[in-house]
Amino acid sequence: MNAGPGLELSGRTVVLVVTGGVAAYKSAELARLLVRDGARVHVVMTEAAGHFIGAATFQAITGEPVWSDLWDARMSNGMAHINLTRDAQLVLIAPATADSIARLAQGRADDLASTLCLARDASCALMVAPAMNRQMWEHAATVRNINMLRSDGAFVIGPASGEQACGELGPGRMVEAEELHDAVCAHFTPKVLAGRRVLITAGPTAETIDPVRVVTNLSSGRMGYALAREAARAGAEVTLVSGPTGLDCPHGTVRINVRSAAEMHSAVLARYQACDVFIAVAAVADYRPAAPSLRKIKKSADTLSIEMVRNPDILAEVAGRADAPFCVGFAAESHDLDGYAQAKRLSKKLPLVVGNLVADGLGGDENEVVLYDDAGRHPLQRASKPVLARAILAHLSRMLDR
Ligand code: C5P
Repeated sequence: MNAGPGLELSGRTVVLVVTGGVAAYKSAELARLLVRDGARVHVVMTEAAGHFIGAATFQAITGEPVWSDLWDARMSNGMAHINLTRDAQLVLIAPATADSIARLAQGRADDLASTLCLARDASCALMVAPAMNRQMWEHAATVRNINMLRSDGAFVIGPASGEQACGELGPGRMVEAEELHDAVCAHFTPKVLAGRRVLITAGPTAETIDPVRVVTNLSSGRMGYALAREAARAGAEVTLVSGPTGLDCPHGTVRINVRSAAEMHSAVLARYQACDVFIAVAAVADYRPAAPSLRKIKKSADTLSIEMVRNPDILAEVAGRADAPFCVGFAAESHDLDGYAQAKRLSKKLPLVVGNLVADGLGGDENEVVLYDDAGRHPLQRASKPVLARAILAHLSRMLDR
């Protein structure tokens, strides 16, 4: 599951138009994710959609009536096609069949779904998630219609490629609900990092002892992944260099998987020059076994000593270079956070350090952090890691804009 909470959805209204495709089953999950994150969701179904999924499902998930008839008398003035989009900021058509795309491109207005798209005002964006057989997607008519929609200002998400309901293989699958949810969140996220290239390290490292054993730590990678996801939503081009975690790659980011500090070091050094910002969140092992055994170490004596040698300090090395990007460090301390975090900022020559007490955040869903920069200390309220990621990036973007 890769649906990081969408922080921009509370107070938003989305009209989810479901047209008649097999992928309509994914739209129920999409509605759930949007509602979970605080959006109000009005579902509009075409007649064909009713062959694939029931209105009762959407009504239960959204807590709102479901609409499908242009002449529905439940709307007091009988004008569902106007009223439904008047308090909405987005109409999302998912799945959008070839027929619904053709009808939109032509500006048709003979059912509720098409009419409300035509009747929405400029402040209400249109997002379309195509879903169809690959031949239909590649047909010149569909290509023409999609281009027409794009030039009319619609955002087209997908389609993905893969196995299709008809058994064929190719482009035309509707993207998964999590990815659509992410696209909606990104749509509503202010683009404070537009045009910035951001390199992030995340997670623990694993240092080889022998072919089956490693030295690692309790970092979950959640803070670094939240920063990567939020930076991408804020418009940045994000590269995530990640140690071993069980987390999915955040949408819209490029992930480079590494294991050891040495691998993370080379992955970062090969990329930092192409970045404007480097955020080192990874809990990099300070030491590694001096001579990893090529064979599994057998138990024999009562004690075992492993000689450890220092790992390179990736952040200090990048920040110390003449061509260093804007560098952000993390300081997880067990005590005297202010003292250690400020000392780290000065010794590693970092414009910004994010500090937290180990007991407050390592491995958990929430954290309590303090930002340290030239202007002093800026405590942030205890919050979930995605909320903190947004606040950290907002602070960072203000520093970049100075
Ligand atoms: O000195 P300390 O390990 O506490 O510094 C933590 C910060 O430095 C974090 O931002 C971490 O990602 C980074 N770091 C690093 N390479 C290391 C050790 C820490 O990039 N070998």
